Amino acid sequence: MRPWAQLLLLAAASSALALGLGGHHEELLFKSWMYQNNKQYDVAEEYQRRFQIFVSNKQKIDRHNAGNHTFQMGLNQFADMTFDEFRKKYLWHEPQNCSATKSNFVGRAGWRPTAIDWRKKGNYVTPVKNQGPCGSCWTFSTTGCLESAIAIATGKLLNLAEQQLVDCAQEFNNHGCSGGLPSQAFEYIRYNQGLMGEDTYPYRAKNGTCKFQPKEAIAFVKDVVNITVNDEESMVDAVGNYNPVSFAFEVTGDFMLYAKGVYSSKSCHKTPDKVNHAVLAVGYGEENGLPYWTVKNSWGKMWGIDGYFNIERGSNMCGLAACASYPVPLV
Ligand SMILES: *[C@@H]1O[C@H](CO)[C@@H](O)[C@H](O)[C@H]1NC(C)=O
Ligand SMILES: *[C@@H]1O[C@H](CO)[C@@H](O)[C@H](O)[C@H]1NC(C)=O
Ligand SMILES: *[C@@H]1O[C@H](CO)[C@@H](O)[C@H](O)[C@H]1NC(C)=O
Ligand SMILES: *[C@@H]1O[C@H](CO)[C@@H](O)[C@H](O)[C@H]1NC(C)=O
Repeated sequence: MRPWAQLLLLAAASSALALGLGGHHEELLFKSWMYQNNKQYDVAEEYQRRFQIFVSNKQKIDRHNAGNHTFQMGLNQFADMTFDEFRKKYLWHEPQNCSATKSNFVGRAGWRPTAIDWRKKGNYVTPVKNQGPCGSCWTFSTTGCLESAIAIATGKLLNLAEQQLVDCAQEFNNHGCSGGLPSQAFEYIRYNQGLMGEDTYPYRAKNGTCKFQPKEAIAFVKDVVNITVNDEESMVDAVGNYNPVSFAFEVTGDFMLYAKGVYSSKSCHKTPDKVNHAVLAVGYGEENGLPYWTVKNSWGKMWGIDGYFNIERGSNMCGLAACASYPVPLV
């Protein structure tokens, strides 16, 4: 579609909105969403099916946004998918061994900043990446955490290889595109001979065979720090005093269409067996009396707030304190 056609569509969509033309308006909105998200459907049946799902998601979003919530939902790149389809493509399928993680974090039990954002303290956080349709979130949480820990220790921000973790870290209970845990991935990097860079081991969003070359390794782990299960205060200590922290939580339907604000949900659980997505806490703060985490996701920059989201802090929201960890880099 040409830019002028896009403009016409948008104009038509907004005038249809003004006139309150129900279905017609929704189809124009869908077409402009398809254009913006570079979507194409091969057959008419698929188009119709995606359109129906889009409409039903839009209704969900409108209902949610009209209510009294701390976060807003929006028509992001997943708006033509049901949550069931989404879960199969992007989340873990089996529970991981979250609670088996023994803890060795000793908090300072003293001073920590009331708010912190590692993105603003220096060149410590790489741009948001995109895992694609592969349950490899744990590899992005792992590389993001190690990238930041190394940058904070040395001033050098590396871009590390998720695909090596997808292909090679099975011996540490990781399962490529079917899930894994950052704590187990840090152990792999520690006992393997390091991790290569994105440039020498590019990401492919699918299971593959291990192509690790020791002489190309650029990042190393000296020790792995696990935070005690459900001890969210220690997570705050670690992020406030040391570096970003990897954690996992349970993604449910309303999170898929998150747009902005502080995410909080009643539909998710708080137990380690239910978490299904790993991410990276890069900071924390408080907004209108509501404490939150600032979190780097791996669904591209178009999702959420430029690829980030905020989630309620202090109540183990969606089990976010169930398996948090970070590496001590060998530098
Ligand atoms: C919205 O929700 C908040 C928190 O639950 C509550 O304190 C507030 O009174 C609610 N506002 C309205 C208009 O219902
Ligand atoms: C959990 O740990 C056990 C024992 O190490 C292992 O056999 C099992 O495969 C692990 N589960 C997952 C999902 O990694
Ligand atoms: C941290 O967790 C990993 C994986 O869950 C585990 O292998 C390791 O032994 C734990 N480390 C400590 C010090 O408990
Ligand atoms: C990816 O590979 C792992 C083993 O490394 C396997 O357990 C898993 O089922 C595979 N997942 C997919 C989606 O092929």
